Amino acid sequence: MTDISTLALPGESRAEVAPRDLPGAPDLADPALRRSKRLTLLLGLLGRRLSGRWVWRLARRWEGGDATSYTLRKVLWERTGVSVGAHSYGSLLFPVDHPRTGLRIGRYVSLAQTAFWSFNHPTDRISTSPAFYEGGTYGHVGNLPAPPPRLDVGHDAWVGDYVVITPGCRRIGIGAVIGAGAVVTRDVPDFAIAVGAPARVIRYRFSEPVRERLLQSRWWELSPEELRPWRDAMTKPASDAEALRALEAIAARIRTAA
Ligand SMILES: CC(C)(COP(=O)(O)OP(=O)(O)OC[C@H]1O[C@@H](n2cnc3c(N)ncnc32)[C@H](O)[C@@H]1OP(=O)(O)O)[C@@H](O)C(=O)NCCC(=O)NCCS
Repeated sequence: MTDISTLALPGESRAEVAPRDLPGAPDLADPALRRSKRLTLLLGLLGRRLSGRWVWRLARRWEGGDATSYTLRKVLWERTGVSVGAHSYGSLLFPVDHPRTGLRIGRYVSLAQTAFWSFNHPTDRISTSPAFYEGGTYGHVGNLPAPPPRLDVGHDAWVGDYVVITPGCRRIGIGAVIGAGAVVTRDVPDFAIAVGAPARVIRYRFSEPVRERLLQSRWWELSPEELRPWRDAMTKPASDAEALRALEAIAARIRTAA
């Protein structure tokens, strides 16, 4: 049987799927985030009585939406343990009631509104029902069926409509693309395009040298404003000479700022 411990193409190196430096906590000091005084005040007055759903609604109205909201990130982190980078948006930013500790979303991640990720119910016990764990609806206080899953979604990944990510997947790589309707059960390498159920890599977005240049550039650490000098290059295919030159310049800019 084929080893599918990662979704690397046959013969591809597995090294790419090693974790890559997503911070544990969100960077709430990121100048790209917008903070509404009204929302801060409301949250201070109401605390947890201001539900996640309302924070999400008001963040859309007063802090420019998922991609730039400071308060949404703060509430996600403090109430559910989810860490989200700037410029990321979509379904997994919707504050649910239960903790999702272990979910880390990088910068510039696009998640369709219909993409899902969650944990397993037990499959080896008499019952699969949460009635027998999570405090137990019927008074049985039991442990969770398995340690809570972890998931890192790398910078600039794009997860399509109706995607389901199961606990078997711990990492969606930087710049990876998950096609509509995929069921992702294993890690997806950087810049891979994975589709289907179970998801399989159909190709990489770029050749290996271009993937390496993109990783070295770390362009996602800059804001759209900081990337303005390379705006034209950012809209070109990454293998174009102009885009490659821009990646070099961006890498140099980040090195000098460090
Ligand atoms: C994955 C995706 C980006 C690939 O686009 P593409 O590179 O133009 O791919 P193509 O249409 O050329 O298809 C290439 C092959 O993959 C298959 N394929 C493409 N998308 C697929 C999908 N979502 N599920 C299963 N197979 C898929 C095609 O059938 C084709 O197979 P073939 O070579 O055997 O004919 C695109 O199909 C997709 O799913 N986009 C997501 C759209 C979405 O959900 N948007 C939400 C907005 S946030």
